[in-house]
Amino acid sequence: MYQKKPGVFMADWWDADGKRHRKQFASSGAAREHEHRETALAHAERATREMKLAGKKGGVKRSPARVVESGTIEPAKGKLGVMIPGMGAVATTFVAGVEAIRQGIAKPIGSLTQMGTVRLGKRTDGRSPKIKEFVPLAGLDDLVFTGWDIFEDNMYEAASNAGVLDQRLLDQLKPFLSTITPRPAVFDHNYVKKIDGPNVKKGKSKMDLAEQVRADMRDFKKTSGASRLITMWCGSTESYIEPTAAHQSVKSFEKALRENDENIAPSMIYAYASLMEGVPFANGAPNLTVDLPVMLELSRKNEAPICGKDFKTGQTLIKTVLAPMFKARLLGLSGWYSTNILGNRDGEVLDDPGSFKTKEESKLGVLDHILQPALYPELYGNIFHKVRINYYPPRGDNKEGWDNIDIFGWLGYPMQIKVDFLCRDSILAAPIVLDLVLLVDLAKRCSELKGLGIQEWLSFYFKSPMTAPGLYPEHDLFIQLMKLKNTLRHLKGEELITHLGLEYYD
Ligand SMILES: NC(=O)c1ccc[n+]([C@@H]2O[C@H](COP(=O)([O-])OP(=O)(O)OC[C@H]3O[C@@H](n4cnc5c(N)ncnc54)[C@H](O)[C@@H]3O)[C@@H](O)[C@H]2O)c1
Repeated sequence: MYQKKPGVFMADWWDADGKRHRKQFASSGAAREHEHRETALAHAERATREMKLAGKKGGVKRSPARVVESGTIEPAKGKLGVMIPGMGAVATTFVAGVEAIRQGIAKPIGSLTQMGTVRLGKRTDGRSPKIKEFVPLAGLDDLVFTGWDIFEDNMYEAASNAGVLDQRLLDQLKPFLSTITPRPAVFDHNYVKKIDGPNVKKGKSKMDLAEQVRADMRDFKKTSGASRLITMWCGSTESYIEPTAAHQSVKSFEKALRENDENIAPSMIYAYASLMEGVPFANGAPNLTVDLPVMLELSRKNEAPICGKDFKTGQTLIKTVLAPMFKARLLGLSGWYSTNILGNRDGEVLDDPGSFKTKEESKLGVLDHILQPALYPELYGNIFHKVRINYYPPRGDNKEGWDNIDIFGWLGYPMQIKVDFLCRDSILAAPIVLDLVLLVDLAKRCSELKGLGIQEWLSFYFKSPMTAPGLYPEHDLFIQLMKLKNTLRHLKGEELITHLGLEYYD
């Protein structure tokens, strides 16, 4: 289901013969209901046919629930073009990692799509396929890459400068990495104050710049032979801004692009270009970028999924594991002080108060949403929560994050937890990028997901997950994981797992 224009909603479904249908409705509810009914009918019909066929052939009867997927997910045929604005530490660690895995010299550790499994049916069924075997994902060999950056370094040089991966590994990958050179970027120094570079597009207006990015995308598709594209923002964190009138609709946004409105950040220009081309956009930084009505409208209209924001890697990953435990055990929290030192370019950019404010907003929301102080005022009504990020060059990408957590238990007795996480930022981020690329591409090929706009089922990967307007985000890592896996089960017509389990004791 998607909104064609205000007040016009389109139900969109495939029948049992794989033929696509669309019908117009005046409300989203009616369109969605129609779509669900027709899809269910198609599934039932297909299942009946399959069972009849199996019966005739004397084959094993499959449960109807397991034959519904075909016709609703297009196969991952051909190459998938990955376009990355921002070819810095995260982007190069991801691309170099994919190439190292393709060459068989490394393993995709940390990637749910590559190493994770999904349990199907009952615990006694013994069915736990790998996720990549359960749903049709693009294979790593089918990924091709391009990107934009304000610096001219190719991926080999950029990865060497980032200093995340061992130079010997990078030298082995040099023939591949050095072929990926950045296209000139759309950049505005006012949005990222700490850096400046020469590889920047010039244009009469922001609309002109958006047209240039769209031309880049078409050029990449043609030259790489990709059958599908996805844009993955790995650029620097932009200065904090609030949405304005310019961001409220496609019409007002396009007017603002033509008038060079200062409220349009470079990341929004890439997002607009992408969605106009019908290409999904995932946002790894805390910038608003696609958290705007204009982008939601475009995403639904052009069936280009969006998701974000801000990769959930180091400290917030730990926070979204510990905080649900406190709430589960009804342990109170009086204070949480988080501080980091890091010395990569991201750290330098975040040294600017404008960019830090964007990051701070993204990091601070987590505790409130998990702990729900309105429901548990005695436990979480008075929390002192502070997040600091300090730029400290000697550490490079090897961040250190300290957490001091003041909790209280039975009868109010205080306790403390200290966490010292010596992590590697981009090593934690790279598998997230890989999973997002593959899962967002899956969403784009999936009749039920591609017109939804926001892909909330991918919250698992983000510090500040996007949700439908009016819905609070789910931050608990394990609820997010369950949501993701249940979405995959649902897409394939498998039973959802509720963990009720009473049937084992009948
Ligand atoms: N590494 C992590 O764990 C992590 C976690 C969450 C979010 N992030 C976010 O991911 C992003 C990338 O992180 P990183 O460590 O790779 O940073 P980085 O500084 O190494 O790379 C960012 C790159 O973006 C480029 N850039 C900036 N503005 C651009 C524009 N308008 N167009 C094209 N390129 C542009 C910069 O020149 C730089 O090369 C940052 O926004 C960061 O906050 C990273």
